[in-house]
Amino acid sequence: MARFFKKSFNSIFKLKTREHKPPTSKPKGWLSEEDEQFTPERSFWQNPEEPISHYYRWIWEYLAYLPLLCDVKRDSRILEIGCHHGRTSRGLLQYIRSPGLYRGFDVEASQVAEATRRITHQAPNFQYLHADVYNRHYNPSGTIKASQFVFPFEAQSFDCVYAASVFTHLLPDEILNYFRETHRVLTLAGKVLFSFFILDFYKGPGTSVSPDYEFDHPYENDPGIAVKYSEHPDSVIAYSRERIEEYAKAAELRIVRVIPGLWSNSPGTAVNEQDLIVFERG
Ligand SMILES: C[S@@+](CC[C@H](N)C(=O)[O-])C[C@H]1O[C@@H](n2cnc3c(N)ncnc32)[C@H](O)[C@@H]1O
Repeated sequence: MARFFKKSFNSIFKLKTREHKPPTSKPKGWLSEEDEQFTPERSFWQNPEEPISHYYRWIWEYLAYLPLLCDVKRDSRILEIGCHHGRTSRGLLQYIRSPGLYRGFDVEASQVAEATRRITHQAPNFQYLHADVYNRHYNPSGTIKASQFVFPFEAQSFDCVYAASVFTHLLPDEILNYFRETHRVLTLAGKVLFSFFILDFYKGPGTSVSPDYEFDHPYENDPGIAVKYSEHPDSVIAYSRERIEEYAKAAELRIVRVIPGLWSNSPGTAVNEQDLIVFERG
């Protein structure tokens, strides 16, 4: 398991620019005809070398989390922040039925185009939008600051908002804005699921499942925020529960559940690779 994480992080964080890797001769995996259609070529994956089991794990996990942790029903309206090429939305295709719908947005145009080509053409209630928001890795020519981005949706239009491995790359003012925008687009009874690296669970060098999950450098002298690479804090960033609660409070959200992830080797429940936090309005 640790080996997958290491490979995956090496491929994500050590790239200077986001370019698709050269085509690989490795097959995606032994997929059914339907899965083959919905799964992009490996050159689109975060880590083109990863086993198909790891790629799919995220798909089925989010299909389980959203109904179980966020009361997502078959007719729910769902927003995914940082949808990439629609990996985690793939499982929802078999669950969400009209008038239920899925919307995802991402800063990387080529990934959004791939999701649209493969998924929206067959499932029109699943739509993927490009947000021209700056990100050093994923959209270095982006024109909008994440700290100022207004989600392109009406107020209270989603029953659930989720993000998988996105807040692990966002800086404090970006998180605060995304929390506020989440609150704006969320229905009154809506639920939110965001993954984080919660700094409270980190026990020091050599204790995590991979050296890629080590947070030994404080960010801007704040003991509640730490990064792996000081020079590139957005490569991978961890927040204390206290900081996350502060941002949530400022955005009129509140934490209702925290489920530790596998990354930190924490005792007790560990479900996803990252820590999961469920929020409600409040
Ligand atoms: C580690 S990937 C996770 C992708 C996807 N959630 C998944 O699990 O397959 C991080 C994603 O966040 C997107 N991203 C980065 N900054 C963003 C921002 N400010 N707003 C929306 N998406 C962003 C990236 O383009 C990338 O697709």
